[in-house]
Amino acid sequence: MTNAMNENRAFWENEENKLDELLYQAMWPDGQEAVDRLAKQGKRPVRDLIQDLIDPDTEFYELSRIAGFGVNYPGVEDVPCGGVVTGIGKIHGNWTMIFGNDSRVKAGTYFPITLKKHMRAQAIAERCGLNCVYIADSGGAFLPMQADVFPDDQHFGSMFYNMARMSAQGLKQITLSTGGNTAGGAYMVFMACQAVMIDKLAYSFLGGPPLVKMATGEVISAEDLGGARVHTQISGGADHFCRNQAEAIERVREILSLEAPQKIHLHRYEEVPPQLPVESIYENLPAAVQQGIDVRKFLAAVADDSQLVEYKKDYAPGRGDNIVTGKIRIKGLPIGVIASNQVGIIFFEAARKAAEWIIRCSQEKVPLLFVQNSPGYMVGSESEHMGIGKYGADMVRAVSCAQVPRIQLVIGPDNGAANYGMCGRAYRPHFLFHTMRSRTSVMSGRSAAGVLLSIEERKREVSGKPMTEEEKQAFREKMIDKYDGEAHPFYCGARLLSDRVLKFHEIRDWLAMAFEVSLLKEIGAPAFGNLRF
Ligand code: COA
Repeated sequence: MTNAMNENRAFWENEENKLDELLYQAMWPDGQEAVDRLAKQGKRPVRDLIQDLIDPDTEFYELSRIAGFGVNYPGVEDVPCGGVVTGIGKIHGNWTMIFGNDSRVKAGTYFPITLKKHMRAQAIAERCGLNCVYIADSGGAFLPMQADVFPDDQHFGSMFYNMARMSAQGLKQITLSTGGNTAGGAYMVFMACQAVMIDKLAYSFLGGPPLVKMATGEVISAEDLGGARVHTQISGGADHFCRNQAEAIERVREILSLEAPQKIHLHRYEEVPPQLPVESIYENLPAAVQQGIDVRKFLAAVADDSQLVEYKKDYAPGRGDNIVTGKIRIKGLPIGVIASNQVGIIFFEAARKAAEWIIRCSQEKVPLLFVQNSPGYMVGSESEHMGIGKYGADMVRAVSCAQVPRIQLVIGPDNGAANYGMCGRAYRPHFLFHTMRSRTSVMSGRSAAGVLLSIEERKREVSGKPMTEEEKQAFREKMIDKYDGEAHPFYCGARLLSDRVLKFHEIRDWLAMAFEVSLLKEIGAPAFGNLRF
């Protein structure tokens, strides 16, 4: 192993340690003290409940755990984990979307980021056809921010709109109430296909005791107003009465025990491990994000048997090669790949090849993996005259219209229109994963500093106060810091621009899970609209 490889490895291991620290913080808001507080109420941390809910010895694929860090709402800097745990696990062999309010984070109330996370998980569930289990324990809307969480589309009401529509499609919406469900939050119980409530822990009412006293003068306890007994024995708003959390978890499993088994709509070959070990990813990906990579080596550490069946390998030497196209298998599932190579600048030949490949995979109903490591499309007169605009647009159109499951994995720069052509967030990939090497922004810090500096220089010249060299340097550095900070996977993950920041050694398992889940619904017929060619 070379020195450079050793250095890369040490660098990425250190980066992933930083990720571990953040993941840990998200799991333990307020540390042991908060866990002790829960225990006094007869409750366990929500991830412990989820672990019991899913099938024994299976994994819970938790989404966006670093959501909410550094969001800086008025008076609240961090909302660890966005205040709600979401993720995918198996219940009686069926992939299920699981939600759990973390009552340790401001009583599980909904901030804008909480809603975004909840909506994202519901969107995945609806698109992939997953049943949903909601472990509800929330003070409802975070009241100081009501204007940002209550009235709009994708705000509080959309949670229930989504529940209603998913249940109408036959996707079970099961609520296990293990705490407060007040006002709008009460619908989490009443909108469920079946709701489980826990004696003396769960409450559900449109107005809590203080509001009732104010409105009608009636003095009543929470238990008598809307506890588990009231709703399972009198109002009929909930369906199952349980004495504690353990019993409630078992009841939810029982409710879902007679669901039809899911099936994958794609032939699955026998799984073969990669020949190249996962450590090679740590060694081969350079620490410097702008430095070129050999994406074929990366794919070899992810693909079954390290096999890549390449498409148009010899097309336009040196330019077509900046995107590698072909098929791999991941845990037996055949996947079409579009992968940025070297420094990742997309020449028109590469864009043309990628668009062709997306269309061919869509015809064959083979899902797509976009491995993004591109700072953008090639600029300049030669490129413009050769049609980089129209070929890039064809690629964007093909990505937008491809009806097959699409997943984006970012392992390097992710800038400008390359973010579109390589299936960024706006192109609604079924899943979007970042790594510690991903950098998502409109352009790199260096480029942005150059553009913004030239604008600032012009302004200052017009005002008769030209910038000094020191001022220019300070301006440049400030812009680079800002852009590089905002492109970082922690910044993006905190704002839910990814579904998870993956460690390199997690990539294969997560992709296998995500493709499997994305293939639970049948794939329709392709249609691409007005391509130019
Ligand atoms: N908006 C903003 N903050 C809220 C909140 C809300 N809806 N509900 C609770 N909080 C905050 C509390 O102020 C407290 O903040 P602090 O830690 O900075 O002091 C924190 O969340 C914990 O709340 P607390 O009341 O101490 O927890 P609890 O476990 O004793 O009770 C509830 C939990 C949910 C039963 C209780 O907080 C409650 O009734 N909240 C109001 C619910 C409501 O009326 N919601 C209507 C909105 S739709």
